[in-house]
Amino acid sequence: MRKRYLVTGGAGFVGSHICDALVDGGHEVVILDDFSSGRRANLSAAASAARVIEADVRDIARHAAAIGEVDAVLHLAALISGPDSLREYDRYAEVNLGGLARVIEFAAASGVGRIVFASSSTVYGNQPAPVLDETAPPAPLSVYALTKLAGEHLLSIYGHLHGFSHVSLRLFNVYGPRQAVDHPYANVTCKFCHAAANGLGVKRYGDGKQSRDFVYVADAVRAFLAVLAGSRRTLYNVGTGEEHSINALLAALEGLTGRAIAVEDHGAWPNDIRRIRADVTRLEDEFGIRPRVTLRDGLSRTLAYFAGGEPE
Ligand SMILES: NC(=O)c1ccc[n+]([C@@H]2O[C@H](COP(=O)([O-])OP(=O)(O)OC[C@H]3O[C@@H](n4cnc5c(N)ncnc54)[C@H](O)[C@@H]3O)[C@@H](O)[C@H]2O)c1
Repeated sequence: MRKRYLVTGGAGFVGSHICDALVDGGHEVVILDDFSSGRRANLSAAASAARVIEADVRDIARHAAAIGEVDAVLHLAALISGPDSLREYDRYAEVNLGGLARVIEFAAASGVGRIVFASSSTVYGNQPAPVLDETAPPAPLSVYALTKLAGEHLLSIYGHLHGFSHVSLRLFNVYGPRQAVDHPYANVTCKFCHAAANGLGVKRYGDGKQSRDFVYVADAVRAFLAVLAGSRRTLYNVGTGEEHSINALLAALEGLTGRAIAVEDHGAWPNDIRRIRADVTRLEDEFGIRPRVTLRDGLSRTLAYFAGGEPE
């Protein structure tokens, strides 16, 4: 059935892929984005079918009439840098937490039934066990992560008060086409793929043995679509259940391009997470979805994008 969705941050990397998938599924999409890191070019596929409102999410109430009635809000608009957030905690609290508070008020005032929130695996911080299910006690190491954890709780508090349903997806390291490499804190997959595709060198922070759960953007999008109509729980990990080190990522890219990548070594970021991998059984058990794209395939599609030929 055709539905109407509001996607905040819909011009960004993950958000624009979600918009494409919703439009492909025959739904009506309203995008609200201030284009601070999102780009018009990301919307080339969705734009013809989506309404785009250029605005700060904190001003959402002013745009209620333009947004109209929506079945659910997918809230992705956020500032996304852990290191930056340690210096700019007021701004991160204002945009990430204040922005979500305004979305909640909008939902309450407009009778929106459901909010899907892009949370982050960074809420876990450094844990004794590297494989994390949703019951691991959160230990954020940045204000960014703290705003995501607080956001999950804000939804629980107000969902209960206002009667909307909600779900938070703790995204692990999402990668793929359209991730902005010019973003000051573009993540490692993005920077490495861009460098590998263009014969450039990379900076490695620490010994490169820190590992992450890298999930291809199409698999993350499938998680958003799966939980859109409803879910038994309010919290799900979105990852692959696999762990790859930064050095393994470099080696995989060298294998795919057939070229060595020059590495410039830098000191480790003090609050860096050492090892992290998602236990994804909760999402799999309830929705029957598992990640489909292998790291090799995902990297190869991302390399093609950064080499100039966008594959999708
Ligand atoms: N990419 C990942 O690996 C990852 C991991 C964990 C969580 N997340 C979360 O997923 C969401 C999307 O991340 P992304 O990687 O696509 O980043 P992104 O920077 O590409 O997307 C964020 C979008 O929000 C918009 N935005 C920022 N501040 C805004 C404001 N005040 N008002 C309106 N729009 C605003 C930006 O212009 C951008 O389009 C974020 O909430 C992020 O915290 C991403």
